Amino acid sequence: MSLSRFYETTFLMTQNEQAVVEGGRRAPRPPIHGPEGFEGMRKAGRLTAEALDVLMEATAPGVTTEALDRLAYEFAMDNGAYPASLLYRGYPKSICTSINHVVCHGIPNDKPLRDGDIVNLDICLIVDGWHGDSSRMAYVGEVPRKAARLCEITHECLMRGIAAIKPGGSTTDIGRAIQAYAEAERCSVVRDFCGHGLGRIYHDAPTILHYVEPSYDVTFEPGQFFTVEPMINLGRPAVKVLSDGWTAVTRDRSLSAQFEHTVAVTETGVEVFTYSPKGLHQPIDPSA
Ligand code: MF3
Ligand code: CO
Repeated sequence: MSLSRFYETTFLMTQNEQAVVEGGRRAPRPPIHGPEGFEGMRKAGRLTAEALDVLMEATAPGVTTEALDRLAYEFAMDNGAYPASLLYRGYPKSICTSINHVVCHGIPNDKPLRDGDIVNLDICLIVDGWHGDSSRMAYVGEVPRKAARLCEITHECLMRGIAAIKPGGSTTDIGRAIQAYAEAERCSVVRDFCGHGLGRIYHDAPTILHYVEPSYDVTFEPGQFFTVEPMINLGRPAVKVLSDGWTAVTRDRSLSAQFEHTVAVTETGVEVFTYSPKGLHQPIDPSA
């Protein structure tokens, strides 16, 4: 989600939830979930990952993102789930499809995918009231080496961010791990969009920044659920949102990639809810 929307959400939540002031910014205390929540999130996370497996296998040159969207909607309906993005704040589709220099929130349309594109497929399925949110990059045919490299770096950023999660640590550990790796690889971390708490609601506390921001830091406790969803650019970090109100692109038109998992803080570390049952964590490389 976007940072400004997060603060709107936060404001609404402070009406009836306990709020704490951290670094001068109001942040509601993240909810702590029990065994029932973990069970619910395992189901929602698994179905979300299965949906992404289907979408990745359907991605090919000539396929439209609208066709992928329809596939996602039908998959949700067939499995007793609802796509959280559909009609969310007016968003018209079941998935986001963000191609090449689109950073996030690309809206599926009738334009065919082209050989060499990289596309982020983002879906959040609600199952029995619980939200599983995940995204992956897919290759359209054979992609240029620099595009594949960006996708590999971004997936590594996600996994390094997740590996930094343990009880007693804090949200800054994620941002530090991701920013250090991305910048060592001469890439940049997008600042304008963040990960988020989720569970029975789509966007909750805590906010997960993918870079170090000293004024925002929330301590991890077992039972917190949130997404980690770094957006990494080959060029500069700046983004702008197009006139459709959703599509975010890099200002310098450099390539951008994103991967997202839904995770929980556990007693001993972290649990990932959205691993691919088919092992399709990274793009399918037709040339490999
Ligand atoms: N993973 C993105 C997020 O959590 C997906 C947004 S869907 C949209 O913000 F409807 F908000 F576009
Ligand atoms: Co998300």
